[in-house]
Amino acid sequence: MIKDKRKGKNMNKILLLNGSPHAHGCTAAALEEMIRTFEEEGMKTELIHVGNKSIRGCVACGRCAELGKCVFDDIVNELAPKLEEADGLVVGSPVYYGSPNATLLACLDRLFYSTSFTKHLKVGAAVVSCRRGGNTASFDVLNKYFTISGMPVASSTYWNQVHGFSAEDVKKDLEGLQTMRNLARNMAFMVRAFTDAKEKYGLPKMEHESFTSFPDGK
Ligand SMILES: Cc1cc2nc3c(=O)[nH]c(=O)nc-3n(C[C@H](O)[C@H](O)[C@H](O)COP(=O)(O)O)c2cc1C
Repeated sequence: MIKDKRKGKNMNKILLLNGSPHAHGCTAAALEEMIRTFEEEGMKTELIHVGNKSIRGCVACGRCAELGKCVFDDIVNELAPKLEEADGLVVGSPVYYGSPNATLLACLDRLFYSTSFTKHLKVGAAVVSCRRGGNTASFDVLNKYFTISGMPVASSTYWNQVHGFSAEDVKKDLEGLQTMRNLARNMAFMVRAFTDAKEKYGLPKMEHESFTSFPDGK
């Protein structure tokens, strides 16, 4: 039975997206290590595998502004209410040619662009899995979804990554798994702290009136 450490508080929810097509691969092994820690910390978790779905990219049609959801009615529209409800989002991806997996990127582009609810002060964390290299470039790409959406980024004791070609390899990456546990503990702390602060102070005011595309403001 999972209990929230703070008496009388609702459990916080963490949504985790696996960008790998392998539901039991390296990325899943890293995310599952985080899930075990989140549950010890009294957080509710939901892991969704998006890398094995057929998800097309954004076509910049702008219909989401009228519809309040993406014109392509697939898993992206199913994820939207889950993200709205969540206090934290973890995105995990295998590295493909030095970048995050393309299916995950298509999903995140459309999920972040098509939803108008605030992501402000939901905590984000990115996790990458690679065999040899391209991990830090991929990590940077994923973190940008958070940093342009008012989402504070949780960090760990070292790089948020595991190494391997199979989940068995990842189980031997003891430092990688330790990093995942520490990341989940830091994220749980931040989620609890922000939940309490939001109740106490409300969200900080944000301005959105200006939308300039060129340095001269025209
Ligand atoms: C199309 C493709 C491209 C890949 N590119 C890289 C790469 O650039 N660098 C790397 O270290 N591993 C690369 N890999 C290996 C995977 O990133 C790595 O094995 C990862 O841990 C697999 O995670 P998963 O089991 O969750 O899918 C690639 C794998 C595939 C299928």
